Amino acid sequence: MRILVVHGPNLNVLGKRQTSVYGSKTLPEIDSLLQERARELGAEIQTFQSNHEGALVDFLQDNCAQASGIIINPGALTHYGLSLRDALADTSLPVIEVHLSNIYAREEFRHLSVIAPVARGQISGFGWRGYIAALELLAAPEA
Ligand code: DQA
Repeated sequence: MRILVVHGPNLNVLGKRQTSVYGSKTLPEIDSLLQERARELGAEIQTFQSNHEGALVDFLQDNCAQASGIIINPGALTHYGLSLRDALADTSLPVIEVHLSNIYAREEFRHLSVIAPVARGQISGFGWRGYIAALELLAAPEA
């Protein structure tokens, strides 16, 4: 089982960026925790980060055929990234949307996710552990 892990704009600077909101782990640290958990679960992950919506769309189009699920933190594209939303829907794969912070406890503009309607579900507010929970959910067979 191969899971795509996609990180949107500004997540490359995790560890330096608003650590009181997003935590102190860097993106490579989060990706390596995911790699470790994936190995334990007998799954494989393919990670990708970009600050550009089109590059995220290209990645999804190029890699969805070999995947069985997607974990995505769309960053600010969560709130307006319609081409990213369309690309996710076009994959027909189960998508779990992850946010490090609780987007509903923050500014009003963060309360709307244009991604949520095409996702299987959303995990918001549990820091890096949200990615691990998403991986466990996608790797576990549906009861
Ligand atoms: C975020 C929340 C978004 O509103 C923000 O633009 C981000 C990170 C999160 O992980 O909490 O870049 O997706």
